[in-house]
Amino acid sequence: MANAYSNTNGNGRGYVLEAQELRKDLQMGEVTVHALRNVSLRVTQGEFMAIIGPSGSGKSTLLGLIGGLDTPTSGRIFIDGQDITNLNERDLTRVRNEKIGFVFQFFNLIPTLTALENVALPIQFAAKRKYSPNKRAKELLEMLGVGDRLHHRPSQLSGGQQQRVAIARALANNPPLLLGDEPTGSLDSGSSEVVMKALRDVQRHMNTTVILVTHNMEVASQVDRLVTLVDGHLAEDTDPRTTAQIAAARMLREKRATGEIPMLPLEGR
Ligand SMILES: Nc1ncnc2c1ncn2[C@@H]1O[C@H](COP(=O)(O)OP(=O)(O)OP(=O)(O)O)[C@@H](O)[C@H]1O
Ligand SMILES: [Mg+2]
Repeated sequence: MANAYSNTNGNGRGYVLEAQELRKDLQMGEVTVHALRNVSLRVTQGEFMAIIGPSGSGKSTLLGLIGGLDTPTSGRIFIDGQDITNLNERDLTRVRNEKIGFVFQFFNLIPTLTALENVALPIQFAAKRKYSPNKRAKELLEMLGVGDRLHHRPSQLSGGQQQRVAIARALANNPPLLLGDEPTGSLDSGSSEVVMKALRDVQRHMNTTVILVTHNMEVASQVDRLVTLVDGHLAEDTDPRTTAQIAAARMLREKRATGEIPMLPLEGR
């Protein structure tokens, strides 16, 4: 017999992330805020996606659940095939260290450590160490275009450089999933572009799945998949480039229909 999850009845297998009917209620005194109302999502390895939506629509809440920073009120979350919904704090910490890299708006680098030391640190702490910390850190920083800043401290780096160091740190243990909450939120447009290019390189070369929360439409237009949250619901799930093409084609058709721009010789027959 079909169970309650018959319409989403996956077990996470084949997906780097599967979220099933996630709800998150938050208590504000007497009032219950329904931050997420019923969000289901499947993401395959190597996708490059963004989550957008108005302020308060639940973006950070969703990212926190996906990243195992918080637990849902109901629903299930699978990361790389593993059900993380009911893990205890110790096991959840292990999943976070091995499977998930985080990047934040304000970089969160350790100010007293150099770029190299910041990136090497999570490798030194890995339970099953797969890499030589300094060698791996150097390789990652070189890949992200900051290989000439190994011994600089965060205060001696620009915002774009600091964020690339933070991305290198997030990738230190080669997680399948990289999550960013407004990773370009405190950068000017030039640095933002450099960071977006770095994230795209990571996705292409390491096949890392990248999920970004953003308010920036320039950032949102560059991803392959755009998920829109409205009031805790998943309102839309599209390829923004296809959407832009469809919108442009529609506009062209309308302008031609009104005679605002001329028809092509073979059109309209
Ligand atoms: N700790 C909390 N306690 C109570 N309510 C909360 C808490 N954190 C968030 N909320 C509420 O949950 C809803 C979703 O918040 P969330 O931070 O996920 O929004 P967001 O989409 O990330 O917004 P923004 O774009 O402003 O960052 C909001 O209505 C918010 O007020
Ligand atoms: Mg937020």
